[in-house]
Amino acid sequence: MDEIKKIIEKGDIVALTGAGISAESGIPTFRGKEGLWANYNPSVYANIPGLMGVFLFRPSRLKQFLLDIFETTVKARPNRAHYKLAELEEDGLLNSIITQNIDNLHQEAGSENVIELHGNIFRFRCRSCDKTSFMHKSEQKEFIEKIKRTSRTELINLILPRCECGGRYRPDVVLFGESLPEGELRKAYRKAEKANTLLMIGTSGVVYPAASLPFNASRQNINIIEINKEPTSLSHLADFTIRDKASTGMEEV
Ligand code: OAD
Repeated sequence: MDEIKKIIEKGDIVALTGAGISAESGIPTFRGKEGLWANYNPSVYANIPGLMGVFLFRPSRLKQFLLDIFETTVKARPNRAHYKLAELEEDGLLNSIITQNIDNLHQEAGSENVIELHGNIFRFRCRSCDKTSFMHKSEQKEFIEKIKRTSRTELINLILPRCECGGRYRPDVVLFGESLPEGELRKAYRKAEKANTLLMIGTSGVVYPAASLPFNASRQNINIIEINKEPTSLSHLADFTIRDKASTGMEEV
């Protein structure tokens, strides 16, 4: 622990977070027995053609999927791990958070420098003009009620509302097979390259390009600390491992 303390005190920490950091906020992870993909096959639910198929042939199942996602994220609140990261930033020790999560919980906890590799479920983006619109939790609660009431034909207009440019908005999240937001990805590489320490929290490290960041850091001899309940495909890169939940692991840090 003394060694971890010394590293942390040097500052210039960049955190790479995944679904595991939000598990204690009530958001299921993706993989594993209770993960989202155990209920919803990602080859169907994590891409546009698959989702269109569900809309056409099993619209009530699509509604259920949307409700499961939105109801979970709207209810979730940051946990101690999110707050501890925000504190490290406030203390000038943490430079930025690179997150694969779409739940907005880092920002809700007060973190300012958050790089979102996979988007944000509370943001909608017009596919034609790129304009964005942020839906606050209170608005999202109304949105959920509308999803429950809406007919199949109206569902599309609700989820993909028209933009004034004539295009359509969609939830600003990255689905399988889609490119990551280029600017965010570039920023993530730049930040990670300059870090003194990379703190990996609650990610299985199987989804790229996010998972390439620790490999780059390892090549550059950047200190790597992993906090995860279980070993992951990135564990071998870690100089220090805290085999614990994100909240208690972060408290130790
Ligand atoms: P995963 O579901 O793949 O992995 C979650 C990780 O969190 C696992 O390693 C768990 O052991 C760990 N974990 C679970 N509960 C924890 C807790 N309380 N404290 C600490 N660790 C815990 O989630 P990600 O690695 O985030 O992408 O998945 C990466 C990407 O795969 C997601 O962003 C998503 C998904 O497909 C897209 O949808 C584009």
